[in-house]
Amino acid sequence: MIDPSTYHAWHGIVPMGEFLAESDPGMFLVGGEGSHVIDRAGRRYLDARSSMWNVTLGYSCEPVKAAIRRQLGDLPSGTVMRYEHPPQITVDYAAALAAWLPPTLRHIRFGNTGSQMTEAAAMLSRFHRRMTGETGREYVVAVHGSYHGTGPLATALTGEQILHEWSAPLDDRTVHVAAAPADGCDDSCGGRRDDDCVRPLAEVVDRLGPQRVTAVIVEPVMGNYLHAASTHQLESLIRYCRGHGVHVIVDEVTTGAGRVAAMTVSGRLALEPDMIVLGKGLSAGYFPLTALAVADPIFDALATPPVRLGFPNGSTTDGHPLGAAAGLAVLEILTADGFLDGVRERGRQLRDTLLDTLADDPHVGDVRGEGMLLGLELRYRDGTPWTLRDVYRLRLACRDNGLLVSYADGVMPLLPPLTISVDECAELATVLGKTITAYAAEHLTS
Ligand SMILES: Cc1ncc(COP(=O)(O)O)c(C=O)c1O
Repeated sequence: MIDPSTYHAWHGIVPMGEFLAESDPGMFLVGGEGSHVIDRAGRRYLDARSSMWNVTLGYSCEPVKAAIRRQLGDLPSGTVMRYEHPPQITVDYAAALAAWLPPTLRHIRFGNTGSQMTEAAAMLSRFHRRMTGETGREYVVAVHGSYHGTGPLATALTGEQILHEWSAPLDDRTVHVAAAPADGCDDSCGGRRDDDCVRPLAEVVDRLGPQRVTAVIVEPVMGNYLHAASTHQLESLIRYCRGHGVHVIVDEVTTGAGRVAAMTVSGRLALEPDMIVLGKGLSAGYFPLTALAVADPIFDALATPPVRLGFPNGSTTDGHPLGAAAGLAVLEILTADGFLDGVRERGRQLRDTLLDTLADDPHVGDVRGEGMLLGLELRYRDGTPWTLRDVYRLRLACRDNGLLVSYADGVMPLLPPLTISVDECAELATVLGKTITAYAAEHLTS
């Protein structure tokens, strides 16, 4: 237990009382090495959650560390807010990043958090309407169960009712639709079933009136459940939105920057959304860095606004040169020959190792996902998914056995660094297997 009178850091979202009661100062992290972190008590943990899903290149990525050190020597701070002296390295980074995004998205805004950028995307869509005289278009449509961060607009976009209730009042021009049915399209229908794929969205757009909807925001893989939208669902969504003059924002904060063995899912599928949000792996977690890539027509309409005020959104540290230095070094690694193919292959290995090692465990179902964005399905003996509470308690048992993992409803997300080794994949599967067996024997009756 931690003495509340001596602990002054206040963490995001978790109830602090529970944290203080269940933790001890020996657990504070003091070191990182490869895919492992080390706590004050000297315990090593395999970090199969990459901190907050962002430390994609592990803790020993020398080229990124060296780039930040170099930049510290040259220009340790700077901004792209308000003034006409952007850091050179930030300008270079924007050009380098744009070259690896879908060709229609050439304008990059930088930020520090994913939440900041999802809010910026929704606000930019609305602001664009102001410039084009479509001021009735205010509604942003998101998906139930999605996650787009926290903040008055980001929380409103996030499709979790409990967060809405506990953070109200929020932006009141957001609406949620059911995710397109998982069996609505498996990419094999050759595009004949557009209707099924976009029906939930079309119903809401019809109800509101298309002239009142400005944008739709969607995650290619829903982080909360690790359900991937099919290619055809994403293509149909974009086609439908184009037809109705609605912007498409693809939130690739989790899926982008290598996590699913691609720079972006949008790029891999040759999608042409109006905006893409990136974060997490962009700097491999070595510096707060996020980005919003924007298509020409939106940028062009805003370049010369009627009053001397561009899109009124941004923060002091946007475009920070240390972030840009980290981002450039990460980009170089991700785009080196064979790196992303290697991530795909290692992801397959991890999946196979998990399925082999856990084959006899009646509580283990399939492994969802691809690349290093995997989810282990946990089932009771009657086939129903484990509750969030059981997955959460399994997470704590894994931690006690030296393995850090995330938790979700019925599924254990596994997002280790992209650079995890073959031996570490085996370590992950072995510890997980032992922990599930022990947990089930002690706590589960079915
Ligand atoms: C898909 C998605 N969007 C947005 C966010 C918010 O990012 P941040 O936590 O950096 O604000 C997250 C964070 O987990 C995310 O997964």
